[in-house]
Amino acid sequence: MDKLLIEGGARLTGEVAVSGAKNAALPILCAALLSAEPVTFTNVPRLRDVGTLLALLGRMGVRIEREGDTVTLEAGALTEPVAPYEMVKTMRASILVLGPLAARCGEARVSLPGGCAIGARPVDQHIKGLQAMGAEVAVEHGYIHVRASRLKGARLVTDMVTVTGTENLMMAASLAEGVTVIENAAREPEVIDLANCLIAMGANIRGAGSDAIRIEGVPRLRGARHRIMPDRIETGTYLCAAAATGGEIRLTGVQAASLDAVIDKLAEAGCTVRGEPSVIHLRAPSRLAAVSLRTAPYPAFPTDMQAQFMALNCVADGAAMIRETIFENRFMHAVELQRLGADIHIDGNTAVVRGVDRLQGATVMATDLRASASLIIAGLVAEGQTTIERIYHLDRGYERLEEKLAALGAKVRRIA
Ligand code: UD1
Repeated sequence: MDKLLIEGGARLTGEVAVSGAKNAALPILCAALLSAEPVTFTNVPRLRDVGTLLALLGRMGVRIEREGDTVTLEAGALTEPVAPYEMVKTMRASILVLGPLAARCGEARVSLPGGCAIGARPVDQHIKGLQAMGAEVAVEHGYIHVRASRLKGARLVTDMVTVTGTENLMMAASLAEGVTVIENAAREPEVIDLANCLIAMGANIRGAGSDAIRIEGVPRLRGARHRIMPDRIETGTYLCAAAATGGEIRLTGVQAASLDAVIDKLAEAGCTVRGEPSVIHLRAPSRLAAVSLRTAPYPAFPTDMQAQFMALNCVADGAAMIRETIFENRFMHAVELQRLGADIHIDGNTAVVRGVDRLQGATVMATDLRASASLIIAGLVAEGQTTIERIYHLDRGYERLEEKLAALGAKVRRIA
């Protein structure tokens, strides 16, 4: 299994181009299931999760052409509207085929995702929404089995803000008969990106980006071309890496407006951050100030940046309180950071981090995607060598990570 070796102490400087967003690419590639015509996507990141999803779509009968960051999908005939356990268990986002398959094929069998490292993560809201649109849903032998002749528009109010839930229901509603309104909808930029793609395919959607999305169903969707938005979490991760090392970087190909909460916190930590629409420049002080935060749905501070900010706080001046309100078990990186000498105290969903003068390199284990990113940031500032094991998590969500870090001056290498 690959490992990452990091020699700490290098100050990150220079310029890096940000890739397309994983969390936009996954739902948007699933949207191709809604049309019999070819849909072309550009700026698709080369990530393991994207490969997993394409393999899943291919199994269903979707024709796939991929060249560089361009992917064309043609879902002319869907021979097998099934997402098997073996695939869903490696990537929960496979659940995003549920809504499109129910709407397009009138039938779908998708494995229940089950738990994952960061919490229980049920999909009851996805199921409840489809039922409200007239689908018959049975959960049998670990699979969600959906049947519907044609879905009917409905007023849907989700019990909590769910990103993939909103996306699944928005896709399903695009081909339903009549008007659907999703209330308490997720406002994440990736939801807007998906809506823009669906609109390019002929869908009638208003209000994406607000908490009420109105979708007037159409009988069919056509082919289109769509560019995937920049990855705001990858952007935020490089900003944190530069901030932790007292560096100065310029990130290109970003969507600065989607990072307001993160940029505000970096400024509070003492960084000078300038965001233009597609470029962000950050200059860090020699020592950061500790920053407290609370994760919550967009536009508040993203849970997917919590681990990286915990790493920053480990070496900042002062103490910070981090509250995680989205997932119940998302502090696993804390014990690994402690192995590097961090001072972290966890109580339920709150972590208190007291900055130390220096971290010390050690062997640590990545437990999930963003936890891995926090260990890299810690490794970059730790004295001596840090070895990060189980980095397959990183390959799920960061394109050419070592290459990009090395371009910024980090001493990092992958060993088999
Ligand atoms: C998405 C992101 C993930 C991010 C998360 C929160 C993708 C592919 N993944 O995950 O990176 O960390 O949003 O910003 O976009 N919940 C239920 N029932 C449901 C659905 C959700 O109880 O039917 C709960 C979850 O357990 C969680 C909360 O709602 O506690 C939010 O989850 P959700 O927004 O659905 O996360 P994902 O869409 O899976």
